[in-house]
Amino acid sequence: MILAAGRGTRMKSARPKVLFEICGKSMLQLAIDAADAVNPVSTVVVVGHGRDEVKAAFAGGNANSRLAFVTQDPPRGTADAVRVAMRAVPESAEVVLVTYGDMPCLKATTLRQLIDARPAGGVALLTVFREEAFGFGRILRDPDGGFLGIREEKDCSPEERTIREVNVGVYAFDRSALVRALPRIKPNNAQREYYLTDAILEIASHAGLVRLVELEDESESMGVNSLSELAIARNVWQERILDEHLANGVVIVDPASTVIDQDVKIGAGTVIHPFVVLRKGTRIGAECEVGPFAHLRGGAVLEDGAKVGNFVEVKKTRIGAGSKAMHLAYLGDTTVGARANIGAGTITANYDGQNKWETRIGDGAFIGSGTVLVAPSTVGKGAVTGAGAIVTRKSIPAGAVWVGVPARPHGKSPTRPAAVKTSSRRARIDGAKAALAGAPKPRSNRRTKARARRES
Ligand code: UD1
Ligand code: CA
Repeated sequence: MILAAGRGTRMKSARPKVLFEICGKSMLQLAIDAADAVNPVSTVVVVGHGRDEVKAAFAGGNANSRLAFVTQDPPRGTADAVRVAMRAVPESAEVVLVTYGDMPCLKATTLRQLIDARPAGGVALLTVFREEAFGFGRILRDPDGGFLGIREEKDCSPEERTIREVNVGVYAFDRSALVRALPRIKPNNAQREYYLTDAILEIASHAGLVRLVELEDESESMGVNSLSELAIARNVWQERILDEHLANGVVIVDPASTVIDQDVKIGAGTVIHPFVVLRKGTRIGAECEVGPFAHLRGGAVLEDGAKVGNFVEVKKTRIGAGSKAMHLAYLGDTTVGARANIGAGTITANYDGQNKWETRIGDGAFIGSGTVLVAPSTVGKGAVTGAGAIVTRKSIPAGAVWVGVPARPHGKSPTRPAAVKTSSRRARIDGAKAALAGAPKPRSNRRTKARARRES
């Protein structure tokens, strides 16, 4: 059960809080992912404010979970939210795990620990010692350390407010214990809300079956209520993501300036230079080199040994093994073969204002500096474009050399592909240079004509 019906007014945004993203995933998605990892029979999300938008964000279905949304409106407290959600809990569920949609750093391993600690017929709840306890329910204990109850911030005496041990708000209930406790909860507190914490008290007083599980890592327990807390949670996740890649053998030269989203794969031996942004869904092979200052977006794939250098943006593009795009390029909706060289300033003009079109660049192709490939265009295997070529929706045959604006075949290469095939790439590059050198000179202007007359 993921509670997410709260308003989140402190985000200063009309957008539902749980849709704010952390490293490429919404907070709610992160909560669902953590829940998925413990294999629930179903996941029930309690929504209220902004529910249509939240549901729409998950309309495409969720890969692993059997998701159900239930509406709680108005939000009358956490126990009320759970009561509403119980309607969607399948009969087969023996354990009800309660988490929050705005607690994005909670780990699946912690949820598993909590479930395993749950006493039969009772509840296990998560506690943590927090430096900053504001907003959390405090854990009350007797002088011997025995659990007495949970006191909400707003119901605390000044003395109780100094308690640092708090209720994280995450519970693993035995279903039967929860069902018994829920109807007994009354909104008799400062906020006139139905407190789920009262269910804990119920279970403690009747069955004595409450187990406290202490969380080691305080950062897991942070709730996100403001954009500043969102930024802190992002840092927590960023560090985890970077650590995982480092552990897998990825060289991250400067973790502090490296942004890597969730769901990015990087092979061992790859070097990520400073100021690189790798968005969700990027796939990078082994022994690649990326950056500094590179931006790889969704659908970017680098095969083994590929290199992407500074000020290169790659989107929905596969770059084949050993290929290079070292400087100032945009590659979008493109397939690049193996061992191709993409010159400085190459642009794939993939968008005509209405539709996106694809570009294909074959193995061993050499794209001259400043080439614009207006999609859909194809550059055949081993083909060459001269510097500054603008290829306008054309298909350059394998081995051909095209130059100019708009780009056209140079020499006889397009009509005699066989002859070109035998020439080395170097020869073709030299050919392209020669073509540019021999290209018709711009007509002399009046001033140079006048000078020519004077001199003659
Ligand atoms: C609750 C706990 C408190 C704990 C804290 C941890 C209760 C009474 N108190 O505080 O002991 O320290 O969480 O964060 O349970 N929500 C709903 N419907 C509602 C109310 C809340 O879906 O009617 C959701 C919110 O969207 C949020 C979560 O439940 O995701 C917690 O709500 P919040 O108001 O932040 O927590 P408190 O009730 O103050
Ligand atoms: Ca509240």
